[in-house]
Amino acid sequence: MIDPRTVRAPRGTLDVLPPQSWRWQDVVRLGLDSFARAGYAPIETPAFEHTEVFERGVGEASEVVEKQMYTFRDRAGRSLTLRPEGTAPVVRAVLEHGLHRGPLPVKLSYASAMFRQERPQRGRHRQFVQLGIECIGTEAPLADAEVIEVGMRFLADAGVAPALAVNSVGHPDDTCRRGYLKVLVEFLEGNAERLAPEDRTRAATNPLRAFDSKAPATMAALERAPLISDHLCGECREHFDSVRAALDDAGVAHAVDPRLVRGLDYYSRTAFEISAAGLGSQDAVGGGGRYDGLAELLGGPRLPGIGFALGLERILLALARRSPQDPRTRVDVYVVALGGEAARTAFRVATSLRARGIGADLDLAGRGLKGQMKDAIRSGARRAVILGARELETGRATVKDLDSGEQVEVPLADIERSWEP
Ligand code: HAM
Repeated sequence: MIDPRTVRAPRGTLDVLPPQSWRWQDVVRLGLDSFARAGYAPIETPAFEHTEVFERGVGEASEVVEKQMYTFRDRAGRSLTLRPEGTAPVVRAVLEHGLHRGPLPVKLSYASAMFRQERPQRGRHRQFVQLGIECIGTEAPLADAEVIEVGMRFLADAGVAPALAVNSVGHPDDTCRRGYLKVLVEFLEGNAERLAPEDRTRAATNPLRAFDSKAPATMAALERAPLISDHLCGECREHFDSVRAALDDAGVAHAVDPRLVRGLDYYSRTAFEISAAGLGSQDAVGGGGRYDGLAELLGGPRLPGIGFALGLERILLALARRSPQDPRTRVDVYVVALGGEAARTAFRVATSLRARGIGADLDLAGRGLKGQMKDAIRSGARRAVILGARELETGRATVKDLDSGEQVEVPLADIERSWEP
């Protein structure tokens, strides 16, 4: 006997069923189309990578790498990991295929499944889809502004009301973030007893992540914490100011959040998060930032980049609040057949309509006339082609307008042509 628990989708995964699946597909298409209009070309990378790509790229101290990866050994003993995010794989592919030796920046987009073993809740899954873009090979602040603008415009076009928070997390040197981290660690150690117990080790492991804590004690203690914005080097400050000015030029409203840090270790300079109303505790619909050191971590040359990823499930959650689902099909014609001989003709008619790009459906369940007419309505078709013994004999089919009820006779040979676009 099969264990009934194993014939359910694994915990934290989703089946996307009609009619919601229409909208799912629409949003993916809208995203990739709007990214393409800004010059981003689609890339597909494998669903799994060598584990090192993430350990080195995303960072061993990050929560994603430390706690959430689906890592396994294949039969040859190699350590592989289902991708928990898309940026490290995209940069790996760029380096591997030498795309960075062509014109820069390399602009790429993706809509791909990601995998993280998190505690599932609304808007948080173990397999989820990210829509993302990566702009690789430029440090220009305009690239930051372009990436952010493309993401915000897509979300607005999709019907989400996005809110943007930006920050600069500086670059890793002593003159900038490393210098700041020393001050922050001192602060965290000096205030250890005021932090929530689960946050007390942060000073040693990943001090910036203290700002991500939702524990009230930690949040209160951090109110007086030193901020990165007061410790940026001159160049990083200038970069951030230019990004903000370009966002203003493009009319992208944004708030500066000096406590914004990101969960992945590769970020430098610009970091941002996009939220949408109504998502509850998982209100981040997307996030991104610069990763100027990532290519080097993966063994490549210096290749600065910036990108974002948006969670598709969260976009759809935000949309569900705003507008009703609109179920839809693409069937124009339903071919009704009465009798075995007519069924074969119906099949031929339906397939040749489809071959001409006309949506066609037919009965595959042996229904009678009444059942087929009902199914025709359900299919969304506007017209039905009716084929019975008489129609086969005369070589003429009855075409019925399903809205008006009007009927006309059309020679069978002309059926396809009567729907010529
Ligand atoms: P991230 O912030 O880890 O960034 O994820 C981006 C978005 O993916 C989140 O804002 C959220 O909408 C969605 N997401 C993340 N985890 C889950 C989950 N468990 N369930 C549902 N949705 C989720 C990155 O992954 C970076 N690679 C973004 C980036 C691109 N940075 C530069 N380029």
